[in-house]
Amino acid sequence: MKLHYLVAAAFSTSIAFPAHADDMAKYQDEARKVIKEFATQLGGELKKEMEANGPASSIKVCRDIAPAIASEASRKNGWHVSRVSLKVRNPLLGTPDAWEQKVLTDFDKRLEKENPANMDFAEIVTEPQGKYFRYMKAIPLQDVCLKCHGTDEVRAQPAKDTLATEFPHDKATGYTLGQIRGAFTIKRPLF
Ligand code: HEC
Repeated sequence: MKLHYLVAAAFSTSIAFPAHADDMAKYQDEARKVIKEFATQLGGELKKEMEANGPASSIKVCRDIAPAIASEASRKNGWHVSRVSLKVRNPLLGTPDAWEQKVLTDFDKRLEKENPANMDFAEIVTEPQGKYFRYMKAIPLQDVCLKCHGTDEVRAQPAKDTLATEFPHDKATGYTLGQIRGAFTIKRPLF
């Protein structure tokens, strides 16, 4: 009886949560596609606004448009899609959970040997509620980011003053080109 129960449990687990290589590849492809769309849309908006109206006016792109795109992608897919960082400007939206902290720390280590433009990581994790597919993609610092996330000398006025007023606890400065600003992150329930 006991054995039956164990076999049934093992069987139903493997049916409910197939974690085969094929599935992983499929989830990863889907995650990459969603993030690519997010990054392209955000990058386009930022470039357009920076060129047309400069850094002070572009604050709204990182502050309002990025979370709006993430929110729409989350609703559309039924996943949690956002951006996180080890040094946040907005702690409400940008604070990584324990798994994300580990991956971000790992990304910084991988930077010694890898191009951050292609750096990502995927894993299936088990939590009390069930299994999740989790995915993160590094966000490298580009030239355009330094105006608001760079060192003191490179950051642009008047965006600098606006940021100081709006984000008095801002930790997201002092970055240089090629470093990792944070990551796009996806948490997809597999139940
Ligand atoms: C015009 C100023 C400005 C520029 C340029 C800018 N950002 Fe930001 N960034 C912000 C603001 C403001 C926030 C806070 C967003 C919020 O309130 O959620 C932010 C937040 C972020 C976050 C979320 C984590 C956090 O710190 O809260 C990431 C990741 C990020 N920026 C990456 C970038 C990257 C990469 C670039 C260049 C491609 C860039 N930013 C360019 C102003 C800027």
